[in-house]
Amino acid sequence: MSENRESIANRSWVSFSSPHLWAFCIATIALRLFVSNVGFFASPKHHDSLFWSAKQQGNILSICASLESVPGVVESDFITRDTSDRYEPGTNATLIKNATIFTGEISDGEKVVLTRSDILLDMGIVKAIGNLSLTYGDSNISVVYANGAWVTPGLIDLHSHLGVMSIPLTEGASDANSKKGPTVPWLRSIDALNTHDDGFKLAVAGGVTSVKVIPGNLNAIAGEAFMIKTRPTSKRSPSSMVIELPDLWNVTKQEGKYVPWRYLHQGCGEDLIVYNLTRMDTMWTLRSAYIEALQHKKVQDGYCADAQAGLWASLPTEFPRSVKWELLTEVLRGKVKVSVHCNEAVDIDSMIRLSNEFQFPISVFHQASEAWLVTNGVLNETWGGAPAVSLYATKHRSKRESFRGSEFAPRTLAEANISIAMQVRVSPAMSSRDLMFEAQQAYHFGLPAHLALASVTSVPAMIAGLSHRIGKLREGWDADVVMWDSHPLRVEATAAMVWIDGALQIPSPAYKPAMNIANPERRKMPTAPNWDKERLTASVWDGLPPLSNRKEDRKIVFYNVKEVWTRRSNGDIEEIFPSPTDPDMNGRGRVVVERGSLICVGGNDMCLVSEYDAVDYINLHGGSISPGLHAYGTSLGLEEIPSEPSTGSGHTIYNPFMDDIPQILHDVGGITRAADALTFGTRNAKVAYRSGVTAATSYLTGPQGAYPRVVLGLSTTFRTGSAHSMQYGAVIQDVTALHISIAMPTVGKDHVGVSDQVAALRRLLFGWESTDTETGLWFKRAAEGEVPLVINVNNADIMTTLLLLKGEVEDRIGSRMRMVFSGATEAHLLAPEISNSGVGIILNSLKPYPTTWDGRRILAGPPVTNDTTLSTLLKHGVTVGMGMKGPQMAQIMRFDLASIAFQALKSMDRLEVLALASRNLDILLGVREVNRDVVVYDGGSLFDLSSKAIAVISPQRQGVDMFGA
Ligand SMILES: *[C@@H]1O[C@H](CO)[C@@H](O)[C@H](O)[C@H]1NC(C)=O
Ligand SMILES: *[C@@H]1O[C@H](CO)[C@@H](O)[C@H](O)[C@H]1NC(C)=O
Ligand SMILES: *[C@@H]1O[C@H](CO)[C@@H](O)[C@H](O)[C@H]1NC(C)=O
Ligand SMILES: *[C@@H]1O[C@H](CO)[C@@H](O)[C@H](O)[C@H]1NC(C)=O
Repeated sequence: MSENRESIANRSWVSFSSPHLWAFCIATIALRLFVSNVGFFASPKHHDSLFWSAKQQGNILSICASLESVPGVVESDFITRDTSDRYEPGTNATLIKNATIFTGEISDGEKVVLTRSDILLDMGIVKAIGNLSLTYGDSNISVVYANGAWVTPGLIDLHSHLGVMSIPLTEGASDANSKKGPTVPWLRSIDALNTHDDGFKLAVAGGVTSVKVIPGNLNAIAGEAFMIKTRPTSKRSPSSMVIELPDLWNVTKQEGKYVPWRYLHQGCGEDLIVYNLTRMDTMWTLRSAYIEALQHKKVQDGYCADAQAGLWASLPTEFPRSVKWELLTEVLRGKVKVSVHCNEAVDIDSMIRLSNEFQFPISVFHQASEAWLVTNGVLNETWGGAPAVSLYATKHRSKRESFRGSEFAPRTLAEANISIAMQVRVSPAMSSRDLMFEAQQAYHFGLPAHLALASVTSVPAMIAGLSHRIGKLREGWDADVVMWDSHPLRVEATAAMVWIDGALQIPSPAYKPAMNIANPERRKMPTAPNWDKERLTASVWDGLPPLSNRKEDRKIVFYNVKEVWTRRSNGDIEEIFPSPTDPDMNGRGRVVVERGSLICVGGNDMCLVSEYDAVDYINLHGGSISPGLHAYGTSLGLEEIPSEPSTGSGHTIYNPFMDDIPQILHDVGGITRAADALTFGTRNAKVAYRSGVTAATSYLTGPQGAYPRVVLGLSTTFRTGSAHSMQYGAVIQDVTALHISIAMPTVGKDHVGVSDQVAALRRLLFGWESTDTETGLWFKRAAEGEVPLVINVNNADIMTTLLLLKGEVEDRIGSRMRMVFSGATEAHLLAPEISNSGVGIILNSLKPYPTTWDGRRILAGPPVTNDTTLSTLLKHGVTVGMGMKGPQMAQIMRFDLASIAFQALKSMDRLEVLALASRNLDILLGVREVNRDVVVYDGGSLFDLSSKAIAVISPQRQGVDMFGA
């Protein structure tokens, strides 16, 4: 900070802030006034101020006037334009006929949805909306028959690093998060915007047409953010992507035009640890920055007061400017939309005090995990009124400060009249493509449908001060439009067509949309379960409800059951109700459970129980009973908070290439067992259990943020609902599989080359390490096919190396290895070879993201490509399982499965979809004991998001766990 202060102190105009200099100036001004009445006389002290021309004075006065100007625009002025400033010449007009249009309006009930409506796009804007005649006088008009399909405004993602943290990630394009200091308001994300980021087209594929590019998350002030559109422009430049480029260099130019909003991003809390800043340090660094800006503002205001009073002779001819504090000064003038990235109540409160101390409004709190706990007047204390809140729906708890985040936050905030925007979680890498998925989850957990849709359209537009042109479908607004193949709040909804500035972006040439076969059922709004009790409990417990279950030993009769699926003794899933011979029984089944077993399954009039039994009768309202899901691939059950080693096992696994493995382990690979580090009853495990995920296989991954490990050790499989490992049935399998990772170097980390990693693997599989050690023993077992070898690998070339190595090992020792590739984003390139080699695949995402160079050749899936990695592998007969990207993802695992079940994969039946996250994982991971826990859903099947899990029936534990609120 001292450097900044010095550079400012060197300028003469800063001296206005010192009282004795003020006195001097006032005296001089008085003299000038006198002198100016008499005529021009040279003043020995102010040579330069003598020569003010009328033009110079005019310039200064217009600069001073511009300080007062209010950014943004009156809608009625703006929409009279007949061509968008963003119109790309050559773009045809488009008429969309017979659509169901969500307009983005939330105040006027009637206009929220227009049915059987048409919409005309031309010259980059929405020209007309309503019942339009086909005879629009332009021959170059493309007509799209929506046939009732849903159309929404283009989506807006306010929390994006697109272009500044370009994917695939490389050292050369890691431009976010300046390391030059915690407070760098003078930086601009536009200066680093890589137009070639692979993320742009995936964002568009998700219907995202505008994003705010934030320069970083890890600084107290990361710099200036910019609102851009996600389409490529004919100029191919970053500047041409910006929606309303502020004139950053010439204030006078803006005279007469409206002034665009500018954007500033602030952070706080734990992220600042990278700068060794405590919360108190962070607030001080922010305050000292604002103090600088305030001084600068006073200097400018004083200068202008003199200029406006005609006291020219006292003024230097240069208008006082500070390139460093210019943006913060604009914040103090109310010309900047400030977003603040703060999680906890303490951080939110500090920021609110800051806004009052320096009198600037905050437009939105990002990722404010605890905002929902302080709706009782706190947010309203912000200077200028309550900010909006931008959240992701689930996936909290990655940090201590987000531990009290809740799936009920969007609803709770909305009920307190706080505007809600949804955002995606940047890590684990989720792309803007998933933005609507966040809105779907928010809706599932209680946010009203129109607010859920507005949370990704009109609300973010309002937050960004751009609601005069984006976020709504209205005459005169930008022609950013998405047509969906389903109701947009259904998890399987895919953007079938996307226009930006009237230009068609999606479908891509490689994709053939199947609008005509879309089922009208899928256009209906899904229903959401009732979470009133859970929401209340979460709030009473400050975000940490006990989530305890009640073990029910009595006989239970579930009635109005839609379907019952269980697992056979060989692990296969079968439908036992409704029976194929009596399909009409759908929704009218009855299941009697005693000591954890289904003792009778039949129609509602069957399975009668003796009136002398103590019996609980539970109406499932068309619900279902189906096998529990299996979570794979994360540290679930090994820790409470990934970034806090003290909350779990600590993950001290070694990288034999880099670490000195402690002699006490006496093991060249440093292999350890995850089973030894299991921690039961973690919040993620409890939430998983209540979300239908009854078992998990986890392995140690090494400390968060450390260099990647090659040998990951031995995984374990356990019940998510157990209290400790000595409880009956808690540990399903002590040692499940051997896990390694083979990858190209990770950006920003020390690394080991691929050939080194493979050389070590070859050596170990060939048995050149003593079996007296864990490493020798378990690699021998892997080579002999006794234990599966699960390899985290994305790259197709590395996969081929591994397939060849597998053949070599098998030839040599006459075995059949059980090899599994996990992650495997490029597996579709090798589907036949993988199939021939008998290797299984565990995918961790349906919508892969080309995060790393070695996994960048993804098959994006609809609406970019018809095929997905999953469909390609299944077509070739590969056994595929579905894993997860983070321990919090278990809560939404069935959303993923539902989207597969309802999407293009017509070739898969629902039992096969369920098998992806149960039976197939058991097979691939070598889980010997079949997990026979079944989950009871009220209000629908596990694929219907109208349902919620209410109980787990456990034959092994001979009881039923009923979930309390
Ligand atoms: C515009 O419309 C004309 C006439 O329908 C068509 O020939 C042309 O290919 C269209 N151009 C584009 C860019 O779609
Ligand atoms: C408009 O769409 C609805 C819903 O699919 C359909 O029933 C109706 O026939 C369509 N109307 C026209 C004029 O195509
Ligand atoms: C700023 O813009 C005004 C109005 O367009 C123009 O007259 C002036 O020359 C510009 N100044 C600079 C330094 O570019
Ligand atoms: C933070 O402190 C640690 C330990 O004193 C030091 O190694 C590191 O360089 C510091 N980081 C920064 C950004 O100042």
